Amino acid sequence: MAFDRFGRQINYLRISLTDHCNLRCRYCMPEGISFTPNRDCLQDDEVLYFVGLFARLGFSKFRLTGGEPTIRPGVVELVRRIAATPGVRKLTMTSNGLLFAGLAEPLAQAGLQRVNFSLDTLDMEKYRQLTQRDALPQVLAGIHAAEVAGLTPIKLNVVVVRDLNEDDVSELAQLTLRHPWQVRFIELMPFGQTADFQLDQVVSAAEIQARVEARLGRLEAVQPGKLDGEARLFRLPDGLGEIGFISSVTQPFCWDCNRVRLTADGRLRLCLLREDEVDLLTPLRTGATPEELRSLALEAIWRKPWGNRLAEGSVPANRLMSQIGG
Ligand code: 5AD
Ligand code: SF4
Repeated sequence: MAFDRFGRQINYLRISLTDHCNLRCRYCMPEGISFTPNRDCLQDDEVLYFVGLFARLGFSKFRLTGGEPTIRPGVVELVRRIAATPGVRKLTMTSNGLLFAGLAEPLAQAGLQRVNFSLDTLDMEKYRQLTQRDALPQVLAGIHAAEVAGLTPIKLNVVVVRDLNEDDVSELAQLTLRHPWQVRFIELMPFGQTADFQLDQVVSAAEIQARVEARLGRLEAVQPGKLDGEARLFRLPDGLGEIGFISSVTQPFCWDCNRVRLTADGRLRLCLLREDEVDLLTPLRTGATPEELRSLALEAIWRKPWGNRLAEGSVPANRLMSQIGG
């Protein structure tokens, strides 16, 4: 099993399958973004190698992210092979949903268990402004297809951005009245080149909750004091679903963090909001033995950081969200 020096057991790996995306969310992908050349990215056999390596270290939960993971060629077959790897017990994905109308069923058949969809507004025009694509109807069809395919419970990630979609939170929260979904509001995190745009636009989870409650009445806490992954959960009195708040900026949940990330170019990223990374792909390609790679991973995990440094004005600058996968 893999532990860090704070005693946290790390057993959850998020793998970015590509830094490309078929949307251009304004807080995520800056104009003129450059992508990693394919030859420098994890190939399928390398992804599978690392899934096996981490599974042998006691990792049981794997999430596929991006950019947008579904645009990776051969993603269904890759999912099938990851799901079949001994030790992989939970296999999930974070997606913008754009391609799910066609992919939900094949991905579910291949062994994908659940999906978190990014959906920041239900307003067609705002969706177009935010993502710079006119894709809301396809995305909603994709979410529906995922539900039909049994990729449940459906979770929706809403990044709240000042002056962009802060007025949309109540309508999104109301989805939980009719659907057994978890709608999670996420504080905007500052990253690299998009940080200027973001830093003064953080809408705190407390503020989002106050907005929702002002419109829809008091939320009931689900399991008070406990987190579901990274979310504090509530529900509307007659709701079928749940409403979550993810306060990575104002109230980080480091004590509960059990995850590390593998970037599309094969670096182990130890904390989303810190720059610390260890290259695993280069050693793999230059002939490191499984034992050496295992030690590299274990030593990196041991040094996993605690706490972001946003309060001190230190913003992670070496990567964008689309390269880390959220
Ligand atoms: N802060 C918070 N969440 C972000 N995401 C992308 N960029 C940011 C950011 N700067 C979200 C996406 C997606 C998940 C992978 O991360 O909306 O839901
Ligand atoms: Fe693509 Fe997700 Fe970034 Fe939007 S937030 S551009 S959907 S990776």
